[in-house]
Amino acid sequence: VLKLPVGVSMYKHNSKLVSLTGDRPTGHLHLGHLVGSLRKRVEFQETYNQFIMIADTQGISSSLNPDLVAVNIKQIMTDYLSVGLVPEKNTFFVQSTIPSLCEITSYYLNLVTLSRLQRNPTIKQESAEKGYEESMPMGFLCHPISQAADITAFQTDVVPAGEDQKPLIEQSNEIVDKFCNLYGDGVIKRVEIIYGNTARLLGIDGQAKASKSLNNAIFLTDPPEVVKSKVYSMYTDPNHIRVSDPGQVEGNMVFHYLDAFYDNYAELEQLKADYRKGGLGDTSVKAILYQVLEEVLEPIRERRQNITNFVIDEILHLHWYKANSIASQTLSNIRSAIGIYSLNTN
Ligand code: TRP
Repeated sequence: VLKLPVGVSMYKHNSKLVSLTGDRPTGHLHLGHLVGSLRKRVEFQETYNQFIMIADTQGISSSLNPDLVAVNIKQIMTDYLSVGLVPEKNTFFVQSTIPSLCEITSYYLNLVTLSRLQRNPTIKQESAEKGYEESMPMGFLCHPISQAADITAFQTDVVPAGEDQKPLIEQSNEIVDKFCNLYGDGVIKRVEIIYGNTARLLGIDGQAKASKSLNNAIFLTDPPEVVKSKVYSMYTDPNHIRVSDPGQVEGNMVFHYLDAFYDNYAELEQLKADYRKGGLGDTSVKAILYQVLEEVLEPIRERRQNITNFVIDEILHLHWYKANSIASQTLSNIRSAIGIYSLNTN
């Protein structure tokens, strides 16, 4: 399937386990991505053979403006590098540059029913958010299938992601089981989802998960004054009116974010106790949270300074070859397992 330049051997996985994740390039990443997945990826780059995919094909099928994609790819690559993911320890690639993924998707389409896709909780929820009702595009509906292609093409063992990805991982494993039953074992494999410390970070309004579209997230790129104003506008306990009133910690976004980012547990437990008892004001806790978040964001801002478009292009060019080789190899195995006719070109 793949023609290799003379003197270049086919990439093979080393003995390390494989980790793969992807993000749709819908704009800058936020603190929800950091605790849900990015921190795990930074940890995993030390021990896993890690692939990080910019899911532009999936992004386009969930109605992303194609004009924005190129800009967004640069943005998301900048975010990856700014949190400490390094090119030497990861393989970064853009989904649309690996054609094997489309072909694998087309074989998997036969392994999934329409009603199963319509029951997928992630698809149901996003479709409700987008208001698709009876007019859902097929590309969108088939996300779980293309995602199974992404995951299996790289012989992935683990996907470090947030809770919202769980139904997609489950469906990927169902596809693998079906494939193995029909065509035999050993070609593609099941995968495990691994959560970050906080599986789902809520928005600063407390309404739902932090997201760009709901405009309730703190972005990795937010400057200090924006972080400050977002922290001070956070949803707390509406019944905590006077400082002396007892306050509620549960459902209070300031504490929800402290839980996710403050690593001084003893201090945090004391703060919660004081807040519950009464006498600790919202502004004081918000000031602490702002400090804590600045300590997280400042090193990220600093790393961002040195990242240029040139560096990003270089990385995507150099890493493409490895990603493409591995996906082509899996595709070739899939074709043989199914028994697809192959041209004899000799
Ligand atoms: N569904 C992911 C998102 O919403 C993107 C994605 C595409 C992905 N393919 C993947 C994630 C494979 C993990 C593994 O951002």
